[in-house]
Amino acid sequence: MARIVTITANPLLDQLAHVAIEPGKSVRVPAIGFVAGGKGINVARVLARHGHEVSALGFAGGVTGTLYTELVEADGIEADFTATRARLRIGWIAVDPDRGGSTAVLEGGFAVRAGESAELLRRLRHRLSDADLVLASGSVPDPSCNELYRLIATACHRAGVPFWLDAYGEAMERALDGPHPPSLVKPNRQEYGRGGRSWAQPAELHLSDGAAEVRVRTPGGRFRVVPPPVREVNPVGSGDCYLAALAHARLGGADLPAQLRYAAAAGAANAARADIARIGPEDITALESAVQVVPAG
Ligand SMILES: Nc1ncnc2c1ncn2[C@@H]1O[C@H](COP(=O)(O)OP(=O)(O)OP(=O)(O)O)[C@@H](O)[C@H]1O
Ligand SMILES: [Mg+2]
Repeated sequence: MARIVTITANPLLDQLAHVAIEPGKSVRVPAIGFVAGGKGINVARVLARHGHEVSALGFAGGVTGTLYTELVEADGIEADFTATRARLRIGWIAVDPDRGGSTAVLEGGFAVRAGESAELLRRLRHRLSDADLVLASGSVPDPSCNELYRLIATACHRAGVPFWLDAYGEAMERALDGPHPPSLVKPNRQEYGRGGRSWAQPAELHLSDGAAEVRVRTPGGRFRVVPPPVREVNPVGSGDCYLAALAHARLGGADLPAQLRYAAAAGAANAARADIARIGPEDITALESAVQVVPAG
C-alpha cells in the first residue's frame, strides 16, 4: 500500500439534517450529524478505504477544527492539520428525505495568517521524503493563500513526488502558470471553460463532465472514457472519488485503460448514492466492466 498526502486548504465542518424545510419556519429533528467536508478529505476517505496510509494536511483551527480532526481520524486517516487562529468554517445542510434535494448555508472560508501557511508547507516538506503522491483539492480559505498551490507544486517537484491538483480560481491559475505545474489536473467542464490556455501546462489532464464522457490526455496517449450508466442520486464528490480511484489503480500498477475504468466506475458509484465519498473497492468493481475506454488518437 502507498503513502499518500492529501491537502484540504479549505475544509468545512458540515452539520447535516435529514428534513424538509420551509422558508420562514422552524423545524425540530431527532439529530443533527457532523460531517467532515472538503474535497481533499473526500479523496483521503476513499483512499483510506482502499487500505492506503493517508495523511490529511490542511488548516483546521478553533473548536470546530478540533471536532473536524476527530471526525477525520475516525475515518482511518492520519490528521496533520495546521491550527489557524480563526476557527474552521462551518456549514449547515438540510437534505429532504423524500424529494432528495438539499438546502445549504456555508461559510466561504476563514482568515489565514502568513505564519500559518508557512507551517502547512513545513509539515508538507517533512512528509515528502517518503510520500508516493500528493493530492490537493478544492478552494483556498483566504486570498492570502493564493500562492499556496504554486508553492506546494514547487516543493513536490523538488522532492520528486507527483503532485495532482483539483482546484479552481486564482490559486489554481497561479499553480498552472508556475515554474513547476502539477503533474495531473481534473477540471470538470465548467472549471475547464473558465480557465485559459494554462490547462495545457500539466502533463496529464482529465476533463470530466458528469455522466458524459471524460476526455483524457496523458503522456501515454489520449482516451475517451464513457462512464457506466447509473441512476444519479447525488453527484457531489464524484470528481474526488474519480481521482482517489485513479490514484489507487495507478499506484497499484494497473495499466492505463484499467486505471481509467476504475476511476470512472468510482465516480459513478458515488453519484448513485446520497452520501459523499463513502464508497469502497466493492462498490467500484461492481461497475468497472460497464465503463468504455476508447483510444482517441
Ligand atoms: N450521473 C453520473 N453517471 C455516471 N457517472 C458519473 C455521473 N456523475 C459523475 N460520474 C462519474 O464521476 C466522474 C466525475 O464527475 P464530475 O464530472 O461530476 O466531477 P466534478 O464536477 O469534479 O465533481 P466534484 O467536484 O463534486 O467531486 C465522471 O467523469 C464520471 O466518471
Ligand atoms: Mg471537481
